[in-house]
Amino acid sequence: MGQRFEPSGPLRGRYAPPPDKSISHRAALFGAMADEPVTIRNYLRSADTRATLDALLTVGAGVDEDGDDVVVRGVGLHAALEATGGRLDVGNSGTLLRLLPGWLAGQPGGVWTLDGDESIRRRPVDRVVEPLRAMGATVSAVDDRLPPLTVAGTELHPITYDLPVASAQVKSCVLIAAMLADGTSVLTEASISRDHTERIMRLARVPFERDGLTVSVSQVDELELEELRVPGDPSSAAFLAAAALLVDRSRVVIRDVGLNWTRTGFFRIAERMGAILLGDLEEPGAESDEEPIGELDVAAAPLVATEVGGDEVPLAIDELTLVGLLGAFAEGETVVRDAAELRVKESDRVAVLVESLNAMGADAEELPDGFVVRGGGGPLRGGTIDAHGDHRMAMLGAVAGLASTDGVEVVGMEAAGISYPGFEEDLGALLGT
Ligand code: S3P
Repeated sequence: MGQRFEPSGPLRGRYAPPPDKSISHRAALFGAMADEPVTIRNYLRSADTRATLDALLTVGAGVDEDGDDVVVRGVGLHAALEATGGRLDVGNSGTLLRLLPGWLAGQPGGVWTLDGDESIRRRPVDRVVEPLRAMGATVSAVDDRLPPLTVAGTELHPITYDLPVASAQVKSCVLIAAMLADGTSVLTEASISRDHTERIMRLARVPFERDGLTVSVSQVDELELEELRVPGDPSSAAFLAAAALLVDRSRVVIRDVGLNWTRTGFFRIAERMGAILLGDLEEPGAESDEEPIGELDVAAAPLVATEVGGDEVPLAIDELTLVGLLGAFAEGETVVRDAAELRVKESDRVAVLVESLNAMGADAEELPDGFVVRGGGGPLRGGTIDAHGDHRMAMLGAVAGLASTDGVEVVGMEAAGISYPGFEEDLGALLGT
């Protein structure tokens, strides 16, 4: 039995999204790599970010939790890790699965195996195995490709590496390993992806430079970090923003949200589709050691189709399914390409999106690297969809239900707790229910 989301009245009010998932993972990990305690303000409380704290506890860091704050008592970058190995449960978290090995690979003496749920066992890790091996690490995975992933720590060497996929997780893994390697490593991205790791590294005074798509990082003894503040998550906010864009007469002010330009691609795409959206989005190309935080004012408006591809894809990677949903309500043909990465997320998001949209009465089709949605400018009918254990697909179904004519039943709504445990309460507050 699924959970029903009925057609709703307008969403209205001010709202603060939950803390950013990507930044919470990184803040905790950098806290564990620091020598002095790091206070993380506004740490996300969700299944994924819980898995990170638990993994860091297992490798020997201390974690004090106090309401919205977490103090991580680190063991240092070149840690004499208290325990010398074991099994680490990453749950459903691809970010933990890809980032943590970058640190563990440079800890001689430790042998760690990272494993997780059924979905995590389908997430490719060859993308981190290859560069870590090139740096001298001993790493193994099922068919060299899938978890469980075993990392035996060693002295790492620097690397010059072109990232084959535009992935912030892979980039971050190599950047972290590069801080431990005896020299300067040079990485070139395929396309700019979220830069939270770089911003934290700058704050922590890691020798680091960027020139276009290329970043270089040198070995460092110690991280200089005391406190990190986590902004609201623009990816979580995007779901309620999409609801406000689709349900007639809605107007929502999203406050305290992260506006880092490497994360706000969805809002720019929505604007191009006709959405009314005011806010202080960070200028594309900005380089900073701070995470910009601000407000976004969103109102419903008629939408037109758009095309998304190329460099825009990594900047909206977790919201591309929402572009598909907006496309189903927009006039014309919305096309997303260059997004084959969607097929290896928490679910195959190309397949699950197209299946879901069609089950709700839309006209959608898969492409090898994306999808096409043909919209008539009217609302979706509704129906039953299966989230396939994917938090973002569950939330998409709920949003679609509010904006539909007949309502949507979501099978597997509990997956929302992976990134956004208060999703339904926040929705209810904006609906006045
Ligand atoms: C993330 C990077 C993206 C994104 C994921 C979080 C991160 O994954 O989809 O939700 O925190 O670095 P990829 O690096 O695989 O593109």
